[in-house]
Amino acid sequence: MTRPPTTPDTPGRPLTTTPDGAGPAHDTAPGPDPTSETARSDGHGTVVRVAAVGDIHLGPDCAGVLRPAFAGLPDRADLLLLAGDLTRHGTVEEARVVAEEVADAGVPVVAVLGNHDYHSGEEAAVTQVLTDAGITVLEGDAVVLPVAGHKVGVAGVKGFCGGFVGRSAGEFGEPEMKAFVRTTRLSAERLALALGDLSAAGCAVRIALTHFAPVPDTLAGEPLEIHPFLGSYLLAEAIDGAGADLAVHGHAHLGTEHGMTAGGVRVRNVAQPVIGRAFALYRLPVAGDGTPPVPEAVRAAAPAHAPGGELISGAVRRS
Ligand SMILES: [Fe+2]
Ligand SMILES: [Fe+2]
Repeated sequence: MTRPPTTPDTPGRPLTTTPDGAGPAHDTAPGPDPTSETARSDGHGTVVRVAAVGDIHLGPDCAGVLRPAFAGLPDRADLLLLAGDLTRHGTVEEARVVAEEVADAGVPVVAVLGNHDYHSGEEAAVTQVLTDAGITVLEGDAVVLPVAGHKVGVAGVKGFCGGFVGRSAGEFGEPEMKAFVRTTRLSAERLALALGDLSAAGCAVRIALTHFAPVPDTLAGEPLEIHPFLGSYLLAEAIDGAGADLAVHGHAHLGTEHGMTAGGVRVRNVAQPVIGRAFALYRLPVAGDGTPPVPEAVRAAAPAHAPGGELISGAVRRS
């Protein structure tokens, strides 16, 4: 996990930003449509419906803005992921606004904090406010949620920066530089351990939740000069090493929704300015639940989106 960044990333892979979720036509469909965002099955087996958003940057002046959208979650999602930067300056007052927004979500809410949530040095109090509201705030740990008889696991860390393969900072030289990179390395190691815990717990679906980006794919649109401050390849190595079905992050407001790790784990940047709506919806088939095996090549080439929510076919391992 600490080896030099010498392996290539995923150059040339097409990225798409097709909008998904929030499709009103599916909300009013009269019959059970296996591709609708309300369906718990894709016609072959169970799907886990994941709503996710980051970088909502709430403050007292926008209280109530997201509450109506979150109130409809139980019909559309099994859980809500919050990918950090929930506040503007990390104050308790702002955290209380976040807590109020999700108070009636009606589904489990799992969050990580972002850099903005640390700004006032009140991250412990912010975490407490969110926890008191029933939100599970992860930092180097994991949570297992029961969904339709299956275990769905979420492992979370804020993560940190440092850059990506071939253009990253190294743990070398001055103490300050070593400390900078060590922060990212330790965060990535905690993420790997937490994902490993989910495997040990027998989770049918495993999700890695971070604020900082694990891959550069989802930074497309951000100035190249600031990529090293938006994420780190060490997070992707942790995800690929431990395994996950989906990786969700925020932080890159000008980035792109879709990406993939070198190991083939799908990555989604759910920063609200990127997804352009209250939350994105992803549908993850439960492995071994009647879903017929799909050849790897077909999975890799399959359309990224299904009506009413993106269908995530699982990790595509590359040799
Ligand atoms: Fe942000
Ligand atoms: Fe951020």
